[in-house]
Amino acid sequence: MHQLVYVSAATSVMGGADLNDILDASRRNNRAHGVTGLLLHIEQGFLQVLEGPEAAVEETYARIGRDSRHFNCRAMIRQHIDQRLFGDWSMGFDHLTPEAAGTADVFTITSDAINNLITPGKAAEIAIFLKSFYQVHAGRFAA
Ligand SMILES: Cc1cc2nc3c(=O)[nH]c(=O)nc-3n(C[C@H](O)[C@H](O)[C@H](O)COP(=O)(O)O)c2cc1C
Repeated sequence: MHQLVYVSAATSVMGGADLNDILDASRRNNRAHGVTGLLLHIEQGFLQVLEGPEAAVEETYARIGRDSRHFNCRAMIRQHIDQRLFGDWSMGFDHLTPEAAGTADVFTITSDAINNLITPGKAAEIAIFLKSFYQVHAGRFAA
């Protein structure tokens, strides 16, 4: 099983309808290809986890990378995993703000990554918070 975590910058301000379009396509395609994961929207950026068979994950990432709704996609983590972190989410989603209870650390780490303050290779912090994020929100999204 393969896991890829990337960050990117949104091209314009994303409203609820824009995000719903992205999530609808994501869930439909990811279900069909055995991909699961999490999309975090934070200020003007995204952090996304894609996990599944390596070819399916890399093909999905390549398609996402060509999407003009965001730019400057940077893969922070590409690794083999024994088990999916988000196995029952075809694509979980959250919008993070610094004020929201319990998400301050996630917000900081994610915005640092999006703002180039965490480079690939120094992304261990990201992997740690992702696991705790799932534990807190388990059961929230159906696969
Ligand atoms: C931030 C972001 C995350 C996305 N995540 C996914 C995803 O996980 N899976 C997916 O298939 N498409 C994702 N997309 C959408 C793709 O770029 C593309 O629009 C979509 O896969 C096309 O699907 P369709 O041809 O079935 O409409 C994402 C787009 C953006 C901007």
